[in-house]
Amino acid sequence: MSQTVYPVPAEWAANALVDEAGYREMHRRSLDDPEGFWAEQAKRIDWITPFTRVKETSFDEADFGIRWFGDGALNLSANCLDRHLEARGDQVAILWEPDSPDEPERRITYRQLHADVCRFANLLKSRGVGKGDRVTIYLPMVPEAAVAMLACSRIGAIHSIVFAGFSPEALAGRIQDCDSRVVITADEGLRGGRKVPLKANVDAALNHAPGVETVVVLKRTGADVAMRDGRDIDWADGIAEQSAECEPTAMGAEDPLFILYTSGSTGKPKGVLHTTGGYTVWAAMTHEYVFDYRPGQIYWCAADVGWVTGHTYVIYGPLLNGGTTVMFEGVPNFPDPSRFWQVVDKFGVEIFYGAPTALRALMREGDEWVAKTSRKSLRLLGSVGEPINPEAWEWYYRVVGEERCPIVDTWWQTETGGATITPLPGATPMKPGSASWPMFGVKPLLLDADGNVLEGAAEGSLVIADSWPGQMRTVWGDHDRFFQTYFTTYKGYYFTGDGCRRDADGYYWITGRIDDVINVSGHRMGTAEIESALVAHSKVAEAAVVGMPHPVKGQGIYAYVTTNAEVEPDDALRAELVKWVRTEIGPIATPDVIQFAPALPKTRSGKIMRRILRKIAENDTGNLGDTSTLADPSVVDHLLANRPATA
Ligand code: PRX
Repeated sequence: MSQTVYPVPAEWAANALVDEAGYREMHRRSLDDPEGFWAEQAKRIDWITPFTRVKETSFDEADFGIRWFGDGALNLSANCLDRHLEARGDQVAILWEPDSPDEPERRITYRQLHADVCRFANLLKSRGVGKGDRVTIYLPMVPEAAVAMLACSRIGAIHSIVFAGFSPEALAGRIQDCDSRVVITADEGLRGGRKVPLKANVDAALNHAPGVETVVVLKRTGADVAMRDGRDIDWADGIAEQSAECEPTAMGAEDPLFILYTSGSTGKPKGVLHTTGGYTVWAAMTHEYVFDYRPGQIYWCAADVGWVTGHTYVIYGPLLNGGTTVMFEGVPNFPDPSRFWQVVDKFGVEIFYGAPTALRALMREGDEWVAKTSRKSLRLLGSVGEPINPEAWEWYYRVVGEERCPIVDTWWQTETGGATITPLPGATPMKPGSASWPMFGVKPLLLDADGNVLEGAAEGSLVIADSWPGQMRTVWGDHDRFFQTYFTTYKGYYFTGDGCRRDADGYYWITGRIDDVINVSGHRMGTAEIESALVAHSKVAEAAVVGMPHPVKGQGIYAYVTTNAEVEPDDALRAELVKWVRTEIGPIATPDVIQFAPALPKTRSGKIMRRILRKIAENDTGNLGDTSTLADPSVVDHLLANRPATA
C-alpha cells in the first residue's frame, strides 16, 4: 500500500470551490442537517413546482421508502438546455471527436442542441411516446446519443441505454424486461476502425422482442441496412418536418428518469431505476464539486454513454452545469496510443476523467506516446470504475499530468448515481489508490461479518448508513428484489457489495467486490450471467466462473467447465465456447481462461466452493484453506494438476 501523501497544490487550495476546512464543514452539515443542506443544494436546479418536502427516506423494512424533494416538479432536459440559452446559447455544449482523426469533429452549441432535442422529442411524440414509456437506446458514442437521452427526459419517457457492445441476445433481454416499444440505433458503429453491425443486431434482437413498434435508425457509416416498412424510420427523415420547439413536460421529482441494466451476483441483470429530482441535484452537485467545475471549461469524460459514468458525467452533469463536454467515439489506442492526449491538445481539454484499465494499457506502450503531446491545457485528472493501483496512479500523475494536476479517484456505482466516495481537488490531500473521503450527504460505515460497526482503522464490508438524493429507487419491475439485494445483508443499511479499508486518517480504500460480481476493464459482470451463458451450450454440463488478476483489465474471467459425459474437451471446444459467450452476452464477457474439469469442488450438500476456485484462478494455491467439507477432495487435485498453460 502506498504511503505517499500528495498535498493539495497551493493554487488549488486557494482557488477551488471547496478547501479542506470547507469540505469538513459542509460534510458535517450535510449529515447533521440533511434537510437544510439539500434544500440549499437543490436551488442549483430550476423547479417548475417548488418542493416543500426534502427527505423522506427509511432503509428499515417496516417503513422502507426513498423519496427526495417528493412534491416538487422539474424537467431535466430544460435544466440542461433551455436555462442556458440566454447566457450561453452560442457556447459549444458538445465537442465530438470521431473514431478516426481524419474525419472532422463536430461542435454543437447549446442553441443547436436544444433545437435537435426538441425535433427528436417531437418525432418520439409523433410515434406515440409519452410520459412513462420506455425507450431503448443502442447507439455508438455520437452526439445523437445525447440528443436521444435529452429528448426522452424532455417528454418524460424513460430511457434505457444498452451499451453498443452488447449482443442481440443481451439487447433483446433488456428490451423485453422493461417492455420498450421504441429502439433508437444506428446503421453501424465505428470503434478503433472496426464496424459494429448495430442495426443488424437490433433486427436479430427484435426476433425475440416482437413488441417493438418503432426503430429509429441514425446513418453513421451509410451502410446499406434493411429497413422494415412501418417500423423503421431513418433519423434524418423522421426529424425533417418536426418543429424545433417542444414544451418540456413537468416531471414529479420521483417520476422515473432512466433505467440502466447492471449485473449483480445472482440472476439476470437488474434494471436500476433512477428518478428525476434527486438524480438531477446529485449529478449537478457532484459534477461541480468533484471537478471544481466552472461553466464553459473544456471537460472530457472518456466513458461510454452505455454505462452510468456516461450518463452522469458525459451528459447530464456537465450540461446541467453549463459545460462543454467532449464525446469521443473511439478507443485510446487507435490509430496509436497517443490518441487521448492528441484529443486533449486538439480541444484544449482542462479536465480529463478516465478508467484505470485504459491507463494501464497506455502505460504499457511506453511514456513516449504521452511525451510527444503537449497536455499543457490539463489541470485536473479523474479515475473511475475500478480500484486504481498505485503504480498506474503514479504514472497518471507524473507522466500524463506532469505533477501539476490533482487526481480525483471517484468511487461509485450505477446504484449510487454519482461520485459517492471521492477526493475533491482543492480539499483532499491525495493518497494514491484511495478513493479518500465521502461526498456530501454520504455516511459510509464498515461492518464485520456479524454486522457490527467497525470504528477507526478497520477493514470490512462497505455500507452506507442513510439515503442520499442520487440513490437508485428500485429495480425495474421488481421492488422486492431491490430491497432483498441491498438492504437485507445488513439490516438498515445500503450494502454496496464492495469490501473496503479505512486507514488511521479516515481515508477509504476500496478493496474490490466481495460478492459474485467481477470488474473486467471497469465493466461489471455477474459471474452467474457468464455461467448461464456457458451452460446454455449443448456440450456443457456445468460451469463456474470467477475473477482472476489481470495486468490490464484489472480482473479477467476464469471459467471452469464440465462438459457432458460423451464430449471430449479440446482446444476446438475451448474456442467454440469463447465465441459462444461473445455471441450470448458480448465481447466484454469473453473468458480469458477456460479450464475443463471433470467435476467441480463441492460441499457434501452440493454447493460449489468458489473460494477454492478463486484461489486456483489466482494461482494462489499454497494454502487453499479449509477443504475438509469437500465431498470429493480429489477434484481439487485434478484442478491443480490441470491448470491451463494460458492461465
Ligand atoms: O467495485 C466498485 C467498482 O465498480 C463497482 C461499480 O460498478 P458500476 O456500477 O459499473 O459503476 C462503475 C462506474 C461508477 C463498484 O462497486 N468501482 C467503481 N469506481 C471505483 C471502484 N472501485 C474502486 N475505486 C473506484 N474509484
